[in-house]
Amino acid sequence: MEMEAKVYIVGAGPGDPDLITVKGLKIIQHADVVLYTDSLVNEELISRAGKHAHVLQSSGMDLEEMVVIMEKAVAEGKSVARVHTGDPSMYGAILEQMVLLKQRGISYEIIPGVSSVFASAAALGAELTVPDLTQTVILTRAEGRTPVPEREKLRDLASHHCTVALFLSATLAKKVVKEFLAAGWSEDTPVAVVQRATWPDQKIVRTTLKNLDQDLREAGIRMHAMILAGWALDPSLVDRDEHRSKLYDKSFTHGYRKGVVTND
Ligand SMILES: C[S@@+](CC[C@H](N)C(=O)[O-])C[C@H]1O[C@@H](n2cnc3c(N)ncnc32)[C@H](O)[C@@H]1O
Repeated sequence: MEMEAKVYIVGAGPGDPDLITVKGLKIIQHADVVLYTDSLVNEELISRAGKHAHVLQSSGMDLEEMVVIMEKAVAEGKSVARVHTGDPSMYGAILEQMVLLKQRGISYEIIPGVSSVFASAAALGAELTVPDLTQTVILTRAEGRTPVPEREKLRDLASHHCTVALFLSATLAKKVVKEFLAAGWSEDTPVAVVQRATWPDQKIVRTTLKNLDQDLREAGIRMHAMILAGWALDPSLVDRDEHRSKLYDKSFTHGYRKGVVTND
């Protein structure tokens, strides 16, 4: 792979080292410097870096320190892989990095990754957009120490009664339940929590809104967990043939198939 003297912001995927894009892997294999979020990116993936690569963990560094390393490497004509967990665009804190890189005239490129929200849906065997049930997924977080804009309060978002994916919220389950109930969700709404999706120690808790807080506490889940809430998470959906899409409907015509229209 032809590498450039710039920063590649790479999504590592949720944990399983094979769940990275082909492009992301090639960049890790060929980059001169690999700087990765050691608490969440799988070491096995990082071990695929080239023998010549300078591999660094980012957890003990602040943003400025990281940028100095990137700036120095690029100035020396080197390529840098800055490896983030999941997809970098979701809670990846990449904007602040890009701002500093841009100020210093350093080019960068983002390589997407498999976000934990989709890895969790896969682990649960769930479709998040179920025909006639919900066609919308809200990706958000509960408000903890990090403030959430007034217009994005959970109660307001939940009023759509669609699928809601909550990052960074495992310790805020009580608050989540309160807000969803205030938005009119029933206590028996299905909720699924996946901790460390795709890692060997992945844990799944299937519960209801009513029991979410207690079940999370009993399972000892406080971090690295994705909360997915809504009726699309009902595990019995797969045993019922009730929600079909138009896409594969015999009578539905679209660009790639002429439908069979009957009069009955
Ligand atoms: C700082 S955010 C990073 C999200 C990441 N960019 C992504 O796309 O998945 C960290 C949060 O993402 C979720 N998360 C990350 N990896 C996870 C995994 N393997 N399983 C479940 N949730 C995960 C958790 O909610 C965690 O608190």
